[in-house]
Amino acid sequence: MCGIIGYIGKQEAAEVLMEGLRRLEYRGYDSSGLALLNGQGLTIQKAHGKLQRLVDRLQKDPLFGTVGVGHTRWATHGIPNEMNAHPHTDCKTEIAVVHNGIIENFREIKKSLEGAGHQFHSETDTEVLPHLIESLYKGNLFQAVQQALQRIHGSYAIAVVSAKEPNRLVAARKGSPLVLGLGKNEFLVASDVPALLKQTREIVYLEDGEMVDIGVGSVRILTIEGKLIQRESIQVDWDISQAEKEGYPHFMIKEIMEQPRSLKQTAAGRIQQGKVMFQELEVLRAGLSDPKKINRVILLGCGTAYHAGLIGEYLLEKFIQVPVEVEMSSEFRYSSPAITPETLVIAVSQSGETADTLASVRHAKKQGATVISICNVVGSSITREVDATLYTHAGPEIAVASTKAYTSQLAVLFLLSLYLGGLRKTAPADENERLLGHFKQLPEQIEKVLAQSSNIQELAGRYAQFDRFLYLGRHVNYPSALEGALKLKEISYIHAEGYPAGEMKHGHIALIDDKMPVLCIVTKSSVYEKMFSNLQEVHARGGKIIAIATQGDSEIRGLIQDGVYLPEAHEFVSPIIVAVALQLFAYHVAVHRGLDVDQPRNLAKSVTVE
Ligand code: AGP
Repeated sequence: MCGIIGYIGKQEAAEVLMEGLRRLEYRGYDSSGLALLNGQGLTIQKAHGKLQRLVDRLQKDPLFGTVGVGHTRWATHGIPNEMNAHPHTDCKTEIAVVHNGIIENFREIKKSLEGAGHQFHSETDTEVLPHLIESLYKGNLFQAVQQALQRIHGSYAIAVVSAKEPNRLVAARKGSPLVLGLGKNEFLVASDVPALLKQTREIVYLEDGEMVDIGVGSVRILTIEGKLIQRESIQVDWDISQAEKEGYPHFMIKEIMEQPRSLKQTAAGRIQQGKVMFQELEVLRAGLSDPKKINRVILLGCGTAYHAGLIGEYLLEKFIQVPVEVEMSSEFRYSSPAITPETLVIAVSQSGETADTLASVRHAKKQGATVISICNVVGSSITREVDATLYTHAGPEIAVASTKAYTSQLAVLFLLSLYLGGLRKTAPADENERLLGHFKQLPEQIEKVLAQSSNIQELAGRYAQFDRFLYLGRHVNYPSALEGALKLKEISYIHAEGYPAGEMKHGHIALIDDKMPVLCIVTKSSVYEKMFSNLQEVHARGGKIIAIATQGDSEIRGLIQDGVYLPEAHEFVSPIIVAVALQLFAYHVAVHRGLDVDQPRNLAKSVTVE
């Protein structure tokens, strides 16, 4: 949902800002722009479309200067075009602002500024900011920004520069992420850590309601009210190469291929002597182990994270035997669930910045619930508001379509179920040990699925021209069907629907014909026979079946058109290897269709607005 960056130092800012924007492009890619201070004033370059268009412009018309701001946009207010692209400026083109978020009261501010003679050029909410700052400016940029922020409602991460104070960069956040990078004789602010990694790994995560006032060689963090904040920086251990494609054509396939490793990282140090250990939950241990203190669980998430939650529901109910519900964060935040202090809320989020999940976390906390998060991005907003976080440690995920973060979320949910089952003695110790044995085989089993990538590519080629798909699954692999369908939709623009196979005869069966391939997850499990019957039902009606099945399954051969055969896995860990096969299928279909896999239309990686 837009990426912002600001730089002040000794290097040519355009290079640093463009490098950062390249790593933020996953947040939005419908237009981009830079504003630099070059000693004579503010110079700006913008382009409609992908970042490459801005690169081309800058090659023809370079910008110079060592202080500046940059932006890559995902449109909320105003269509994607050059006029609406950031940075936005004041009437005299002296103040430049980049913004991620939404200014809710922009209409009334705009009206009053227009009344005072300010001229607006875009349809964006953001443009009110430079004009408001201009109207409040009395020789101190920091104070003018501070006063402007006190008048606006909504969410923002902003970075501001002004030709009147060419050695100053002011930034602030409320509701949208912002990190400060401390380099050698240079400072940066950005929406996300990968944008800073080329310059520094020393990072300060800013909190909501905080501002930074940066000069050449000096930086202060203050609250919007002006209270000075002391905050230790942290050293992030992400490597710049993790944010590169490393020879793969797309980030998505690189991230799919990384899953044996990412899964090992997720589990590292968490299985000891046949038991699951979550050091992070030690502070909550007393509550978690007592059925009277926690008697209900609610899982929250959006999109793929929600699907992970749905699988978590089956696992948690099985192992801790308390009622478990799963809610989409966007619905939960406006609902009135009867949350009590005995409720454990588990928020699942790759980015830790999804606006609806963050708001839901606050909603649950207000009502006294214990809230933990399962998150990939260290120090992200959600992790700072919850009682404890279980990091997925999947490494940076750049492709918009979530892959390795999802399988790591499933791994954490599996381990958490065993951990809680162990604490509460609701799951027999020998069963835990047996299941951990199955879990440990996953990296090797995933390698075997990945080795089938070229077969899946061929298969995808045979189906890439269809324009609708049905995905069917049961039990823990019903959410796998939802997730497989979501992957196909978001990167291939093919309508795909995930559905519980047992429900098919109540309506969806009417859709079956030879123009809609049906992807059936029919791996060996406690519901195999039931799925087998569903396969027969589809087959009897002339449906084309692609089966995701278990190696050696010859029974289904007469019913299906095509199959992807997976190593035999215990049903509770099977969604992890099923996911890998479905990710590969969606990826190859999108590539066959010639689509932009990493940056699908209309989407953005982190949805930091409602
Ligand atoms: C996944 O492929 C999607 N791009 C999307 O559904 C995503 O999972 C969702 O927006 C939630 O994001 P989060 O995990 O960062 O909260």
